[in-house]
Amino acid sequence: MESSKQALELYQQQFGEGAKVFFSPGRINLLGEHVDYNGGFVLPAAINKGIWFAIAPNNSNTANFVAADIQESFSVEIDHIRKEDGWKNYVLGVLFVLIKKRYVIAGFNCVFGGNVPQGAGLSSSAALEAGLVYALNDLFSLGINREQMALIAQEAEHSFPGTKCGIMDMFASLHGKENNCMMLDCNSLQYEYLPLELNEYELVLINTKVHHSLNDGQYNRCFQEAMEGLSFFQTLNSLVTSFRSISTDVVNQFKDNLSPEVYNRCIYITEEIERTKQAAIYLKENNVVEFGKLMYQTHKGLSELYKVSCAELDFLVNEAKSKYDIIGARMMGGGFGGCTINLIAKHNREQLVAEIVAAYKDTFGIDAEVYVVETSNGTHEIV
Ligand code: GLA
Repeated sequence: MESSKQALELYQQQFGEGAKVFFSPGRINLLGEHVDYNGGFVLPAAINKGIWFAIAPNNSNTANFVAADIQESFSVEIDHIRKEDGWKNYVLGVLFVLIKKRYVIAGFNCVFGGNVPQGAGLSSSAALEAGLVYALNDLFSLGINREQMALIAQEAEHSFPGTKCGIMDMFASLHGKENNCMMLDCNSLQYEYLPLELNEYELVLINTKVHHSLNDGQYNRCFQEAMEGLSFFQTLNSLVTSFRSISTDVVNQFKDNLSPEVYNRCIYITEEIERTKQAAIYLKENNVVEFGKLMYQTHKGLSELYKVSCAELDFLVNEAKSKYDIIGARMMGGGFGGCTINLIAKHNREQLVAEIVAAYKDTFGIDAEVYVVETSNGTHEIV
């Protein structure tokens, strides 16, 4: 689906008049990867690709969903919410959490669809969860603010799909601001908008087309091993509440007490938290070149220490690194596939991207997809 109009037309065909339409964006992340659930800082921005919802109450106790892009639909009684398979869990998780928190909702009809490529690390699932919370809050006047909406969407993801994700994706989807990214403190949820002024450079995503699914266990393993590391440092000092209070030096000091896997994760996390703070300073100073160098460093950490990259992502980043006019690149999002994010000189973008895409095709036989990033405002009603 490519527009709010399509969502509304489909709704009218299926259910008649009276729907409101909402847009919930996907997100990119400039830096601060795999640190949201480790108490770090992240630098995400909402993008102009997302999910549209056409939705209205239906004076019953039944929620009717139509997933337009895959032409599937299903209905559920509001007081009989249970786990199902696949995409249904994203919407059911939201209903489950709202009801658990005693928000009063009734039946509704909902047609949704969008243009965030799935499994590309652009948070299509968070856009779905956050958008549904936002729409239901509006429809049933639930009085939930955006921060609480993000927390509800995160809990929904934890409860039904079962991915122990951090807060970044839903928070960014709900709080995005056009032409800005945000520096989000994942401990306090305080945030600051930073204008995305990249001089002669622009952000380009290259999709490996290697499917990335967060709920296949690999992401939760990252989470568990990180928590194992954190618990160790908490036994040394009960004042430690997150990785924010642990330095790379301290991690090194206790290297022998940690398994190699957990040690590597702890080193990466503590380095990435510092890197993100530095990255925000560079952005504020409009020092795009130094910012780009940090992107390459983050990729190295994600690939060699945190081990969430894959051959296809590493290939794309190495290709980018070999080009003078690409001053930063790294895998983005959960990893194991999905997109790289690249900082490329505008004047040479088409040529460079074509070369990388051709080399990728030669090596892996896959046609990579390319998206030039445009930022957007957070989840909102389309009027
Ligand atoms: C996924 C998760 C986020 C975050 C990123 C990695 O997108 O949903 O919470 O952990 O991976 O930074």
